Amino acid sequence: MATRFADKVVVITGAGSGIGKVMAKRFAAEGARVAVVDWHGDRAAECAGEIAQTDGHAVAVRADVSVGADVATMVGEVTSRLGPVDVLVNNAAIADGDDVLEIEEPTWDRDVSVVLKSVFLCSKAVLPSMIERRAGVIVNIASVNGLSALGNEAYSAAKAGMINLTQGIAVRYGGYGIRCNAIAPGTIRTPIWQERVDRDPVVFERLVKWYPLGRVGEPDDIANAAMFLASDEAAWITGTVLRVDGGLLAGNYRMTRELLAQAGSEDLES
Ligand SMILES: NC(=O)c1ccc[n+]([C@@H]2O[C@H](COP(=O)([O-])OP(=O)(O)OC[C@H]3O[C@@H](n4cnc5c(N)ncnc54)[C@H](O)[C@@H]3O)[C@@H](O)[C@H]2O)c1
Repeated sequence: MATRFADKVVVITGAGSGIGKVMAKRFAAEGARVAVVDWHGDRAAECAGEIAQTDGHAVAVRADVSVGADVATMVGEVTSRLGPVDVLVNNAAIADGDDVLEIEEPTWDRDVSVVLKSVFLCSKAVLPSMIERRAGVIVNIASVNGLSALGNEAYSAAKAGMINLTQGIAVRYGGYGIRCNAIAPGTIRTPIWQERVDRDPVVFERLVKWYPLGRVGEPDDIANAAMFLASDEAAWITGTVLRVDGGLLAGNYRMTRELLAQAGSEDLES
């Protein structure tokens, strides 16, 4: 089995659920010593426990990554228990607000803090030791929402900010051997969708029609991309945003299908 991350210290925020949890297990399976960070301490402990059961190395750390004091304590604890951070994956997010006209100020502030301020705080906390060691990787889990108007305005604006911050860090610290990239996932089947699934049990099947590759994504699709960007295989890639979206943002799929149907290419009209 490939062990691209043997003895690397990898911090993953929001790793108690969904994409973060799958990334934690996948990094650990490739030799990393993983810090499973989540504001739900029980979820973090459960994920770290599952990794330990497969002989992986993980520690659970409870922290709200939108709070500076929590982040400082978290990075201090990780450094003393595992060593200096080699890879930071900024993955934690919430998306509570939607329409600008309806969103309340506290909801806006909370969404933006958890999605964007957390990236500033966690990066600021790990960068000094990365600079000192002249090595380090940051992978930011953004969203297609940061690249196009798809609703959830506070979350989306914060994801757009995250993409710009990715570029800022890449440019400013590239000279120290530090790389910083973002991933923009499309729809991924995770618990973040639970409320929507409760309201509409076939929501994923409905969304498939927007995806040229004919399915929504799975957490492993994002883990594959994150591990590539964190690995030496991506040694000359920094400041980029990699869309992992089944082709969602490549074009207007429904419009193309309509145009092709009008032109007589009926074979696409499934
Ligand atoms: N699932 C999708 O369709 C999708 C699409 C695009 C982007 N993303 C992004 O992928 C990432 C992971 O999403 P997911 O679908 O796995 O979500 P999820 O809700 O399943 O998991 C997110 C985890 O983050 C934790 N978390 C939230 N706020 C936190 C905070 N302040 N401090 C510490 N932990 C916190 C939660 O407790 C939860 O365990 C997010 O950045 C999300 O924006 C997801």
